[in-house]
Amino acid sequence: MKRFFFALCVLILCMVMVVPSAMAKAKKIRFSHVVSVNTPKGWAANEFANRVNIALKGKYVVTVFPNAQLYGDNQAIEALSAGFIEMAAPSSAKFVGSIPALQLFDMPFLFPKIETVHKVVDGKIGDEIRAMFIKRGLGIKLMTFWDNAFKQFSSNVRPLIKPADFKGVKFRIMSSDVLEAQMAGLGGVGLKLPFAEVYNALEQGVVDGQENTASNIYTKKFHEVQKYLTFSNHGYLGYAVIMNQKFWDKLPADVQKTISTILMEVTVLERQKAIELDKEQGTLIRSYAKKSKRLKIYDLDPAQTAELQKAMKPVHDKFSEVVPTKWIKEIKMMK
Ligand code: LMR
Repeated sequence: MKRFFFALCVLILCMVMVVPSAMAKAKKIRFSHVVSVNTPKGWAANEFANRVNIALKGKYVVTVFPNAQLYGDNQAIEALSAGFIEMAAPSSAKFVGSIPALQLFDMPFLFPKIETVHKVVDGKIGDEIRAMFIKRGLGIKLMTFWDNAFKQFSSNVRPLIKPADFKGVKFRIMSSDVLEAQMAGLGGVGLKLPFAEVYNALEQGVVDGQENTASNIYTKKFHEVQKYLTFSNHGYLGYAVIMNQKFWDKLPADVQKTISTILMEVTVLERQKAIELDKEQGTLIRSYAKKSKRLKIYDLDPAQTAELQKAMKPVHDKFSEVVPTKWIKEIKMMK
């Protein structure tokens, strides 16, 4: 009995000493993002982390920090570039100061459907964007692109149906200059605010309205502090999944391969998940409007959409110095 007790003590002592030292040796991959877990990016970041953590058996551990717990918006790009975090997936708009050409994805009514975005990021333009990241030498490696969905407009001033309805309305926008020009072109005002501040800004009247996808609106309850929401599908929201270049370069080749393979698998699933969540959370917003009677929903007919398109499309030609005109032309030729 004494011997058994002694052996048990030795075993416990070994565990106390060995387990933390094994954990301490695990290399951290900190993945920071600003949205809720139940969004396309939130889901994909967790799925990626789970798969990597299993495949690499705890030698490398991906920890996801959602909801801007670590860094908000543009800060995440700086933190990643400086090596304070290893991974992030900011939306295209957040790269305005680092890779401004990514504002391509903020162009209103440029992508007729999600499949067009996939043709772009999986094709020649995607390769050219990858090359830009290398050329800029910011210490940021572009790993893949993830979708959210198309954005919807909402406001507390009046229903947003025709261009004149936007006049004088103050909208929260992401940090993109293209989005600022988009709002100005409609006669509205775009105020660049971090995602984490949108709910309060809407509730306190700092801004009258916003544009975002159904999943971002629903999970952050923006629809509960808005009176009118139009399913306008006027612009795309998507992400560049990035990694600290030095961290990547130091990874053993087999670990790089595992991470890239998992990321590609998750990217395929993420595209599907993004479609599902957009539908699901769009429906939840509609149900909320029906039940609460505090929110009115509007769907645009083809003529109304065409009128908005006409008013917003001039933005496509205003950024030729930062967003290659040939990209825009190529995309317009895509079916
Ligand atoms: C926003 O700021 O509205 C979005 O970029 C948030 C996100 O990451 O989807």
